[in-house]
Amino acid sequence: AATPAPEITEVQEWNQFLGDGVAARPYGMPSQFEKHVVRRDVEWLTASRESSVNFTPLHDLDGIITPNGLCFERHHGGIAEIPPEKHRLMINGLVDRELVFTMDDLKRFPRVNRIFFLECAANSGMEWRGAQLNGCQFTHGMVHCVQYTGVLLKTVLEECGVKTNAKWLMPEGADASGMNRSVPLEKALDDCMLAFSMNGEALRPEQGYPLRLVVPGWEGNMWVKWLRRIEVGDQPWHTREETSKYTDLLENGKSRRFTWVMDAKSVVTNPSPQAPLRFKGPNVLSGLAWSGRGAIKRVDVTLDGGKNWVTADIQGPVLPKSLTRFYVNFEWDGKPLLIQSRAIDDTGYVQPTKNELRAARGTNSIYHNNGIQTWHVRENGEVENVEVS
Ligand code: MTE
Ligand code: CO
Repeated sequence: AATPAPEITEVQEWNQFLGDGVAARPYGMPSQFEKHVVRRDVEWLTASRESSVNFTPLHDLDGIITPNGLCFERHHGGIAEIPPEKHRLMINGLVDRELVFTMDDLKRFPRVNRIFFLECAANSGMEWRGAQLNGCQFTHGMVHCVQYTGVLLKTVLEECGVKTNAKWLMPEGADASGMNRSVPLEKALDDCMLAFSMNGEALRPEQGYPLRLVVPGWEGNMWVKWLRRIEVGDQPWHTREETSKYTDLLENGKSRRFTWVMDAKSVVTNPSPQAPLRFKGPNVLSGLAWSGRGAIKRVDVTLDGGKNWVTADIQGPVLPKSLTRFYVNFEWDGKPLLIQSRAIDDTGYVQPTKNELRAARGTNSIYHNNGIQTWHVRENGEVENVEVS
């Protein structure tokens, strides 16, 4: 700037006085100037806050790791507060030894650290019939990605000795909802975890403290929190959460059953309705891509509603079943934009358009909407949620 900036030439308050000492903040919080970076809910979505959801502020975050205090919450019976010494995990049913584990017991098994995204099957569910919610926090914020520490479920199942006719597991939560789902044994033995830490510290109460099931790449509903029991059986249980809920109602009245995997998906987080464009000239477009089938191989981005596409710059680790961060550096001339991103995973799967999804599955469903999102940037930089045909 031509005139001297007072921020440089004048002594500022924080320059003259001592700040807080080391004892002032035993558990640190973000800067007071970041108070707007919070989980938010949509009041009309559910009748009760105890059986509801809030959303990760994706437009305020960067990189691939979600800070613990900003991971969206979805619970059907409120947050259970369980003293760890009172928590037990029972494994019963088709096993040689039915066992009950304390948290201390579980922490004596060999440990693993793994980064995974968790996405609720209902993420983007309100968008099935058309553009509705204004902000990627609300359209795509039922996703988070953290590093879990825990033991492989396989390790603990081996301790119990799974019988040869066992094929299914039913994890069950200790919360008021008693959430339970049927999980195929094959998946459990492949990569499921019993997690007690996220991002290096104990699980947050909201995320299932002291123990949660991690089911990499599969719908969030199966990741039972406050995990207290796993029954081993030879067939699925068809619980409420896999019959009247979490099945996808098709146009012909039939439902898709056991749609566990979260297919490849992506969203531009900046710009987006809560993060308008503020400058002409150089800008950084940023976004997230993920796939429950593996790693993200490529992300394409268009600024003109799909006429021209560029390959986004993927920055940071590209891990299977994890969020992946991408950027596109572009010049904005102040003209309207139609921004979309399209993820491609390492199985070759290409994220579909919303109309392709509707052609295949109709408009009755709310689950598994991984269609391409469109943001319309106006000349004043404001952004709105739209669809292009
Ligand atoms: N586990 C229990 N015990 N109770 C619940 O209500 N909600 C499920 C799942 N596990 C739930 C649960 C749903 S629908 C989702 S999407 C994820 O937890 C959400 O995990 P999060 O709250 O850590 O984001
Ligand atoms: Co869910």
